Amino acid sequence: TQQFRITLLPGDGIGPEIMNVAVDVLKVVGKKFDIEFHFQEVPIGGAAIDLTGEPLPQESLEKCRNSDAVLLAAIGGYKWDSLPPAQRPEGGLLALRAGLELFANLRPAKIIPELIDASTLKKEVVEGVDILVVRELTGGIYFGKPRGVFATETGEKRGVNTMVYTESEINRIGRVAFEAAQKRSGKLCSVDKANVLDVSQLWRESMTKLAAEYPSVELSHLYVDNAAMQLLRAPSQFDTIVTGNLFGDILSDAAAMLTGSIGMLPSASLGATGPGVFEPVHGSAPDIAGQDKANPLAQVLSAAMMLRYGLNQPTAADHIEKSVSLILQRGLRTGDIMSPGMKQLGCRAIGDALIQALEE
Ligand code: NAD
Ligand code: IPM
Ligand code: MN
Repeated sequence: TQQFRITLLPGDGIGPEIMNVAVDVLKVVGKKFDIEFHFQEVPIGGAAIDLTGEPLPQESLEKCRNSDAVLLAAIGGYKWDSLPPAQRPEGGLLALRAGLELFANLRPAKIIPELIDASTLKKEVVEGVDILVVRELTGGIYFGKPRGVFATETGEKRGVNTMVYTESEINRIGRVAFEAAQKRSGKLCSVDKANVLDVSQLWRESMTKLAAEYPSVELSHLYVDNAAMQLLRAPSQFDTIVTGNLFGDILSDAAAMLTGSIGMLPSASLGATGPGVFEPVHGSAPDIAGQDKANPLAQVLSAAMMLRYGLNQPTAADHIEKSVSLILQRGLRTGDIMSPGMKQLGCRAIGDALIQALEE
């Protein structure tokens, strides 16, 4: 029996609802494949602020660090929106990423054929789309200094953030992306704003230099505005995309929508060593929280990514992914991916149907 210590961070909003489903799925999969999960749940985000005053208590971070993998749901909500950045729930998530040095965020956006009608784009446009966004996660404008809101001499306030990348930060995310592209179709598109930003010029230069080490990968470059447009115009031109923290945040939400719903998209946040954090691309969806409406599949597929990339259990990961396809083939849908003729279920009921499929 393989044994793994998993730290669970349910967080806020729909977080606990979708986490319940993912944990039940893991328990079933564990039995089936002889894997024993030791779960411990710790607070993060708004839930942690309410309990301890901090969005990522030191104890939560330590417990994450001492586990084999971390499964995170989502953080944030209206209640905490007026706090200053560092004290907000989002600050807890950023501190987790920084604390575990999770510089590489893998966000796959792959069309599931059963869901092709759920996309807001034409079938011909999204058919066959299979994109991997490799987002730099611990640098860029999210972490650059100086930052803050300062008073000027005239008494006016001035808000400041700084976009910073060092060559070594660019190279380490670049290597992850080149290696991923090598294993996929061999096409890598680096997205930047090198026509305006100095930091992007360095980004482009560094990616271009790195390309010499990966002769089997065809590197191209796009400005981020054009990349956003191209993602909607002709998404199947992309295979692997590598980009900085902010551009990657925005482009991965756009890529999510190609697949029908952000409620379907998982992600893996990885460092050079230590446990990874596996989390949906979406947030805490406060508009539907507590109503049993959330799509739990991004969370479930994040658990599958945890098995694949964090715990080296590809067979168990495959089984989860196949079972997700199976319930979609059977026409079962949450509201966000609903289309005519399908059967609409709540979060819990989709989870139960999935568990049944896993046991078949
Ligand atoms: P969001 O992703 O939470 O929601 C955007 C829209 O998508 C909403 O209409 C929501 O109902 C819908 N949606 C999201 N996930 C869904 C799911 N699983 N099933 C069905 N519908 C789903 O983004 P937002 O509204 O901009 O942000 C809400 C809060 O979440 C904010 O506090 C934000 O900072 C936070 N957030 C957290 C994370 C994270 O924890 N990783 C990511 C993004 C946003
Ligand atoms: C995400 C989220 C986070 C980000 C926020 C909540 C800090 O949008 O994981 O995509 O911007 O990285
Ligand atoms: Mn985001």
